[in-house]
Amino acid sequence: MADNDNIVTGKNYGIGIPQVTEGYFLKGCGHLEWGMKDRLSRIFNPKSGHTVMLAFDHGYIMGPTSGLERLDLTIVPLIEYADCIMCTRGALRSIVPPACSKPISLRYSAGSTVLTYLNDECLLDIEEAIRLNASILAAMVAVGDPQHEGLTIRNLTKMVDLGTRYGIPSMGVTAVGKELVRDARYLSMASRVCAENGAHVIKTYYCDKDFEQVTNAVPVPIVIAGGKKLAEREALEMAWRAIDQGAAGVDMGRNIFQSDCPVGMIQAVRAVVHDGAKPDQAFEIYETTKNA
Ligand code: R5P
Repeated sequence: MADNDNIVTGKNYGIGIPQVTEGYFLKGCGHLEWGMKDRLSRIFNPKSGHTVMLAFDHGYIMGPTSGLERLDLTIVPLIEYADCIMCTRGALRSIVPPACSKPISLRYSAGSTVLTYLNDECLLDIEEAIRLNASILAAMVAVGDPQHEGLTIRNLTKMVDLGTRYGIPSMGVTAVGKELVRDARYLSMASRVCAENGAHVIKTYYCDKDFEQVTNAVPVPIVIAGGKKLAEREALEMAWRAIDQGAAGVDMGRNIFQSDCPVGMIQAVRAVVHDGAKPDQAFEIYETTKNA
């Protein structure tokens, strides 16, 4: 216990040495407060500036999607290779080991399923996100959906307000309806709308043409969803191109858990995202693990 005896006068004030004021490594996040930055630094590796999020929240709109029938068998073995996991509160509480110590991207919006029409969603309570120690909140934003655009943008702004109150960042997830084209024009519009409304990270799709326009039009980090299952080499090529053109990582699901070697695939994706491995080098990692 501190007492009043023998108090030694301080001498080491470093007079003449300017105090170090560090910058912050994530695009557009330098002015956020400490708790937000701490959470984002758990998701994005401060050395590479990138992240591999493993997404397995599909069940909330799609039910037992192929590869996600038994999360305990297919997903739990992959968690150790992910920088962050994106899932629902139901999957967290029932399946994810709390001792895994991975930051959680919490699926924070919920609503209609593929059986009716998508994007008619509400938000969870912020207390629930705090209880679950979420590192980031994620809600669907349906720009261009005539029925649900306004609702989902209001959801996003509400999520940002609630998260900001407690230092939890928000991720806008751009939902592209069947009738909309996933081109650079649409993706930059949808992603920019999310960022302007306060999202700290944007999850969107990669597009073959002019993806750089999307990453440049958005003032915060972008992570790409994998989308439908591709051949492994093709998915690695997509991840490489996205990173090369300014994405800060992937939030990938089906191209990992529907692979015939998910552990090999997630390690190959990591090599692309964090080590700058070219698609061929990464594919070799996948093949080596698969054939081991
Ligand atoms: C969709 O329901 C979710 O937001 C997924 O997390 C997202 O689509 C990413 O998964 P995938 O790589 O399978 O597209």
